[in-house]
Amino acid sequence: MPINFHSSNNKYTYTNRQATDSWTHRIQNIIDVKEKRVIDIGCGGGIYTKQLALMGAAEVIGVDFSNQMLQAAEENCAHISNTSFIQGDAYNIPFADETFDIVLSRAVIHHLDHIPNFLQEAYRILKRNGILILQDRTIEDCTIPGSPEHIRGYFFSCYPKLIRVESKRRPETNQILHLLRDTGFQTNPIQTFWEVRKIHPSIEDLLQDLSPRTGRSILHELSDNELSHLLQHIYSNLYERSPIIEQDRWTIWTAVKE
Ligand SMILES: C[S@@+](CC[C@H](N)C(=O)[O-])C[C@H]1O[C@@H](n2cnc3c(N)ncnc32)[C@H](O)[C@@H]1O
Repeated sequence: MPINFHSSNNKYTYTNRQATDSWTHRIQNIIDVKEKRVIDIGCGGGIYTKQLALMGAAEVIGVDFSNQMLQAAEENCAHISNTSFIQGDAYNIPFADETFDIVLSRAVIHHLDHIPNFLQEAYRILKRNGILILQDRTIEDCTIPGSPEHIRGYFFSCYPKLIRVESKRRPETNQILHLLRDTGFQTNPIQTFWEVRKIHPSIEDLLQDLSPRTGRSILHELSDNELSHLLQHIYSNLYERSPIIEQDRWTIWTAVKE
């Protein structure tokens, strides 16, 4: 069953970690966020809203359609003065035309059924010369084999049926490029990169992080029994490793409103 973003059971699923330097450096290489007005669409628990604020943005607004996510994001960013959160849909973003310098949407487009409608909204709220940053995993990113760094790869070697789920929902690199151009954006070359997701001091910490399915919507497709079998599979591969530096491979599309 797909994750329900509106359930209180999943409230903290996108708050239990910090953005790492690998992400910060990648974004800094794309654009200097200092003094920029930024919106984070599908902000979840505000992990990246917070990081953009800490990177020196003038203001970062997190938007999400889930009240539960927004409550968690507000708690997560309680001490960061230049962040704020508002409920809104990616297809109907509650801001005027030409409001933002940067639109970020991380790990969201694979959850959207109407990506062109979202891109039109992103285009509308961007100022001239503003930039859209889309970060998501393609099917190629997802299915890189499991290794001590790429933990997600074990999900698919253990349960090939998950590849079918991902194939249906994951964006295709060139399709997104075409949609961006159709919307009127000037596209930049695509980038791929490895983001350090979390550093787990031991295998026990990793298993504890995985068992509530935290931050990994694909695990909601497994039953409790299947999940516990997967955890045993991961344990048997990694029990001698510590720390475990978990990384995910991502694709980034950047596009400018000229
Ligand atoms: C996988 S989480 C990513 C959260 C955050 N961007 C991150 O990278 O940690 C996807 C988020 O998108 C939100 N979302 C999904 N569809 C949405 C829509 N149509 N409008 C607004 N938010 C949406 C969900 O509620 C969820 O918080």
